[in-house]
Amino acid sequence: MVKIFLDSAKLNEIEKVKSWGLLDGVTTNPSLIKKASDEFGGNIEEYIKKILKVAKGKPVSLEVIGNTYKEMVAEGEELFKKFNRFGKNVYIKIPVNPSFDESSEGDFDGIKAIKTLSKKKIPVNCTLIFTPEQALLAAKAGAKFVSPFVGREDDFIRKKYGVSFSKDDYFPAEGQRKKGKVLEDEGIVSGVDLIKETRKVFDREKIKTKILAASIRNKEEFRECIIAGADIITAPFDIIESLVNHFKTAEGMKDFTKDIVPEYKKLVDG
Ligand code: E4P
Repeated sequence: MVKIFLDSAKLNEIEKVKSWGLLDGVTTNPSLIKKASDEFGGNIEEYIKKILKVAKGKPVSLEVIGNTYKEMVAEGEELFKKFNRFGKNVYIKIPVNPSFDESSEGDFDGIKAIKTLSKKKIPVNCTLIFTPEQALLAAKAGAKFVSPFVGREDDFIRKKYGVSFSKDDYFPAEGQRKKGKVLEDEGIVSGVDLIKETRKVFDREKIKTKILAASIRNKEEFRECIIAGADIITAPFDIIESLVNHFKTAEGMKDFTKDIVPEYKKLVDG
C-alpha cells in the first residue's frame, strides 16, 4: 500500500501524525529545518535525535548541503554515522544535480555521490527530480527513493507560460491549455504527469527504487499522485490533517447523533 510520509521537521507535527497511526516516514530539507528553528533553539543535534527516535524504524530523510561530490559524500557519511543509531532510519538526501547553473554541460557529482553512498549501504533519497530521465539516472546509481517535485513542476510550467497562480492552486494533472496548446516542460505537462511518466519508465525497466512524490500542494494532488503510481507521498502537516475531513461526513455525524433513541443508547452504553 502507498506510504504516507510527513514533509516537516517539526517534532510536534511528527508526534501528532504518529499518534494517528499514519507516520510511515519523514522528509526534511534545509528550508524545513529552518521553519522548525524556533523549536530546536540552539540544540539542533538533540532535536534531530528526538525526531529519529519518534520516527524509529521509519525512514527520515536528512539532506546534505554541499555542492561537490567530495562534500556530499563526506556530509552523507557524517549524518549517517552521527544519527542512524538512534532509530535505524536515516536516509541521506542528495540532489540529482547540485549545480546552480541549469545550462551547464551537466554536473554528475550528485549521481556519483549516490553511487558511493549506496555502495557503502547508506540509503539515499535523491531529491529535486524534474524529469523521468533524472529519476532513471538516480535509480541506476542506487538511490532507494527518488523524489519528483510535483508542485514545483506545476509552478515552473505556469511561470514559463506567464500563467498567474497562487501556491496552493490546483493544477490539472492532464495539463493546462493556453491558446489551444497544452503547456509543458520537457514533454511533461504537470507534476502528476511527472509521477506517471516516471512510473512507466520504472515499470518498463523493472526498477525497484521507490517513487516518492514530493512538493505536494493540495488534497487533489495527493490523490492524483497515488493514482499516477507513486509508492510514497510526502505531504505537509496541514494536507495530511485535512485528508480525513468532509462537509458531508460532519453533517452525517450531526444527523445520526440527533436520531439516537434512548433504547439504542442504553444498549450501546451497556
Ligand atoms: C521533500 O522531500 C521536498 O523537499 C519538499 O516536498 C519540497 O516541497 P516544496 O516545494 O513545497 O518546498
